[in-house]
Amino acid sequence: MDRILIRGGNPLNGTIHISGAKNAALPLLATCLLSEQPLVLSNLPHLADISTMAHLLSELGVDISMDGGAGNGGNIGRVFRLDAGPVNSTTAPYDLVRKMRASVLVLGPLLARFGKARVSLPGGCAIGTRPVDLHIKALQQMGAEIELDEGYIEASAPDGLKGAHIVFPMVTVGGTENLLMAATLADGETVLANAAREPEVTDLANCLVAMGAEIDGIGTDTLRIQGMKTLHGAEYSVVPDRIETGTYAVAAAVCGGELTLLDTRLELIDSVAEVLRNAGVEIVEVDGGIRVRRSDDGLKGIDVMTEPYPGFPTDMQAQLMVLMAVAEGASMITETIFENRYMHVPELSRMGANVNVHGASAIVRGRSSLHGAEVMATDLRASVSLVLAGLAADGETTINRVYHLDRGYERLGEKLSACGADIKRLKD
Ligand code: UD1
Repeated sequence: MDRILIRGGNPLNGTIHISGAKNAALPLLATCLLSEQPLVLSNLPHLADISTMAHLLSELGVDISMDGGAGNGGNIGRVFRLDAGPVNSTTAPYDLVRKMRASVLVLGPLLARFGKARVSLPGGCAIGTRPVDLHIKALQQMGAEIELDEGYIEASAPDGLKGAHIVFPMVTVGGTENLLMAATLADGETVLANAAREPEVTDLANCLVAMGAEIDGIGTDTLRIQGMKTLHGAEYSVVPDRIETGTYAVAAAVCGGELTLLDTRLELIDSVAEVLRNAGVEIVEVDGGIRVRRSDDGLKGIDVMTEPYPGFPTDMQAQLMVLMAVAEGASMITETIFENRYMHVPELSRMGANVNVHGASAIVRGRSSLHGAEVMATDLRASVSLVLAGLAADGETTINRVYHLDRGYERLGEKLSACGADIKRLKD
């Protein structure tokens, strides 16, 4: 298994092009299933999760052609042409779903267009139990008959899905996306209340509108969808990755130097930018992106709670913890989205971070001088926090199990070493 070797302590200076958002790209890929006509998606990041979703779609019969490399600036945003005209299967097998939970996003579109779907239950994952009960209940409200059989969700709606008034009891990004897709082909109006407002949900809604869907309330917590008989083909470009943007902003803060992050937008990271500014990071808007540096007064501790958008994202929690570990003073993080999202803490502690977890909160006592160590990646965002810690630490850090990083960060080593980081991938 590949490893990453980092010699820490170098400041980062230069420009990084931000890729298209993985979490927007995954539902957008599933969207092709809603139409017989081709969907052309551009600015797709080159990541393992995207290949997994493409693999799943082609197993279902989607004809995918790739038109790679048409870059924006330094990026290699990929272009996929997805033709779901020839779909001949409605089964998403365990082998693919277990690799990536987001595979469950084919459930809504398959059921809406074909009246049936058989999708493996995703099972647990490193950051908690993560059930899909809310997706299932909401589809049942739209008239779907759903049974769980030998680890599979067996869903059918022989007469099609019916519009419904759905109130999500808690905010779910994937649940909102699955139902939003399903509702575009339902009979009548569907209202999704307490819907997720994440920019990736908005991106999905905008793409559906480009395909002919009628959706009101985009960007709010109440989405109103008028079902259509069919949707047509469209061309759509994936929104920039706000988590990648935030991650490199933290990198500039903990390493020193100055990074310009292009092909992204400040408004996508509002809550992250506010937290970083309060912690002593300077962020200014520039043409095509943002510029980030640590302020001359240095970094200081700050309390943060993760929340659904527009709050501080859980996907930035581990990275922020690294910043807190090297900042002046104490900080407290409270994780409200996932019950087991502190897997990075023991690894960061091995590198000298002073962190104590009490239930959903973590107290970080700052100004640790981090030192290199051999550490192990556990999930995607935990892994990148170890990279950030390695870049800021004295000495050498080796990170094992880097396949997690390949799921969500396009050309991470290349992007960082072009800005002065000493980071290498060791092939096994
Ligand atoms: C998405 C993101 C993930 C991010 C998360 C929260 C993708 C591919 N992944 O995951 O990176 O960390 O949003 O912003 O976009 N829940 C239930 N029942 C359900 C569905 C969810 O109890 O049916 C719970 C989950 O266990 C979790 C919370 O709701 O505690 C939020 O999960 P959700 O927003 O659905 O996350 P994902 O869509 O899986």
